[in-house]
Amino acid sequence: MRKLIFTGLCLLAVSCSHTDDYDGNEINDNIDTTMLKLNLKGCDTFVKNADYRKYVEKAYKAFDTLDKENGEGNDFLGWKHLPSETLKGTIVKECREVCDRWQAKKVDLVVAIGIGGSYLGAKCAIEALSHTFDATLHTGKGAQVVFAGNNLGEDYLCELIDLMKTKNVACIVISKSGTTTEPAVAFRIVKQFIEEKYGKKEASERIVAITDKSRGALKSLATGEGYKTFVIPDNVGGRFSVLTPVGLLPIMAAGFDVEKMLQGAKKMEDVCGVCCEENPAIQYAAMRNLLHMENGKTVEVLINFIPKLQYFAEWWKQLYGESEGKGGKGIFPASCCFTTDLHSMGQYIQDGNRILFETLVSVDNPAHSLKIEADEQNLDGLNYLAGKSVDYCNHMAQLGTQLAHIDGGVPQLEVNVAKLDEDALGQLFYFFEYACGISAYMLGVNPFNQPGVEAYKKNMFALLAKPGYEEAGEALRKRL
Ligand code: PA5
Repeated sequence: MRKLIFTGLCLLAVSCSHTDDYDGNEINDNIDTTMLKLNLKGCDTFVKNADYRKYVEKAYKAFDTLDKENGEGNDFLGWKHLPSETLKGTIVKECREVCDRWQAKKVDLVVAIGIGGSYLGAKCAIEALSHTFDATLHTGKGAQVVFAGNNLGEDYLCELIDLMKTKNVACIVISKSGTTTEPAVAFRIVKQFIEEKYGKKEASERIVAITDKSRGALKSLATGEGYKTFVIPDNVGGRFSVLTPVGLLPIMAAGFDVEKMLQGAKKMEDVCGVCCEENPAIQYAAMRNLLHMENGKTVEVLINFIPKLQYFAEWWKQLYGESEGKGGKGIFPASCCFTTDLHSMGQYIQDGNRILFETLVSVDNPAHSLKIEADEQNLDGLNYLAGKSVDYCNHMAQLGTQLAHIDGGVPQLEVNVAKLDEDALGQLFYFFEYACGISAYMLGVNPFNQPGVEAYKKNMFALLAKPGYEEAGEALRKRL
C-alpha cells in the first residue's frame, strides 16, 4: 500500500509520488518502493529554482570535501563505509555469539549503559522496531533492553535496581572515551549488582564492554575483568556509531535483524556516495542550507506521525546539533511528534515566530491494520469515517498539517520510507549521516568534533572536586 504525498517536485529529480486518488489500494509503477525518498515539493513556494541550483552547486563542493576526505575532521570518516565493511567482516557474528550465550543463560534483561552517541542509535532503533507495549507484553524475540548511564537521576538508578532484582540480567557498557561520568557512575552500580547476584566469574560472562581499542578507564577495567570487548573504531565518532557494535549489539540483543539494517544502510551508502543531483543527501543539504541562509530559517523541526519515531528524532537532533552547532553557526534541530504535539506546539508552528521549517519522516505502511467500524447510533458523529483505517485518518491529518504549515510560512521537506523495519532504519541512519557531513561542510564547520560539550564537563568535575580541578572548583563556588 502506498500513499498520496505531495506531487510535482519541480526541484527534485528523485520522484516518488503519484496523483491518483488515495484509497488505500496498491498503485503499480516502476518505482523501487523499498528505497528512501526525499520530497521537496513543500518548499516550492518558498524558494526560487535559481537559488536552489546555487545551493546544489555548493552542496557538490561540500560533497567533494567529504568524498575526497580533505576537510576538517577527516580523521573521523570511518562511518562512510561501515555498512559495506561490516557486512563483510566478523562483527555481526561476534555479536550473535554474545546474544546466543546470553540466550542460553535465559537472560531476559539487558542493561545498555551509555550516553549521547553511545546510546541514542540503539534506543531509537529498539523503540522504532518494538511493540509499543513490549515492556508489559514481552512480544519481542529478544531480551528486554533498557538504558542507563544517559542521566544522573538517582531515582532512575534506584528504580533500575528494582527492575534488575526481578530479572535475569546482562549488561553492555558503552563509552568510546571510556571516561564519561554518567555511564561510569551507572556502570559502577550495575556491575556491583551483577557481581553480588551472580558472583564475579559469572558477571564477567554477563558484561560486555564497547570502547576504544587501547585508551580510557573502561578499556583497562574490561581487560582487568576479562570482559568480552568490542572496539569502537578510532575514526568513528559517537553520533556516527550506530552501525558499529555500539548500536548493533543492543539492537540484536533486543531481537532485531542487524544484517537487514546494514543492508538498508548499504543501499544508501551506494546512493549517497555518488555526486549527482539525484543524490538525496545533496538535495537535503542544499535545501536546508538554502532555507537557512536565504530565508532566515534558523530552526528545523523533525516531525513524524508515528509515535515509535520519537527517539529517531532524538538521535537526529544529536547528530545535527553536535555536528553543526558550533562557532556561532548552525540550524537548531528540534522535534515534534504529531498529531500529539499539534495540540501543544501546533499553535507556535502555525503562527509564531517564522523561523521554522519542518522535515517530515513519513512511513507508507503501518505494520497492522485497524478499521473504524460503523456504529448504528453514531452518537460520536464518526460514521463518516466508517470503513476507513486509522492510518488513513493519520495520513489525512499529515497532509492537512503540511498544507496548513505551508500556508503559515513553514517550508516542508519529506523523507519517506515504505515501512518501519530494519532496512528502512538502516537507510534513514546512513542518509541523515551523509547529509549531515555535506550540510555541515556547507555551513563551514567541522562536522566531527564537539568542543562545546567540554564546558559543562569541566564545571561538573570542578564542582564534584575531581582531583586536578581544585582551583576551578573554588572559582565556580564563588559564583554560585
Ligand atoms: O557524539 C559524540 O561524540 C558524543 O555524543 C558521545 O557519544 C558522548 O559524549 C558519549 O561519549 P563516550 O562514548 O566517550 O562516553
